[in-house]
Amino acid sequence: MIGKLNHVAIAVPDLAAAARTYSAVLGAKVSEPQPVPAHGVTVVFVQLDNTKIELLHPLGEKSPIQGFLDKNPSGGIHHICYEVADILAARDKLKAAGARVLGDGEPKIGAHGNPVLFLHPKDFNGALVELEQA
Ligand code: CO
Repeated sequence: MIGKLNHVAIAVPDLAAAARTYSAVLGAKVSEPQPVPAHGVTVVFVQLDNTKIELLHPLGEKSPIQGFLDKNPSGGIHHICYEVADILAARDKLKAAGARVLGDGEPKIGAHGNPVLFLHPKDFNGALVELEQA
């Protein structure tokens, strides 16, 4: 059911410093910071040949990644995103298999303009999984 790895998201305490590390030290192509208020984050996209890395920093008072950064002050891998062809079909299949879908269970528009859903990390070996229809 899952297709390509769309991105790996890393929560970072200092977005400019993280972007510099990826551009100046690792030699990757990085975007300008992009606010995504609907998800409570500012994102820098790191474009690799075969996938993307997203550097996430909290935006606003109720950012969903603030708690993660409080527990991991130097940052850490926050989630991985797999592509699916049909997000509603994928959701229904996963729910039938007992997986928990976060939030109200309805897809939201993600940072790339496509519908996304998040799956409970306890159902996936401790990894927060995002599904993106792509
Ligand atoms: Co993501």
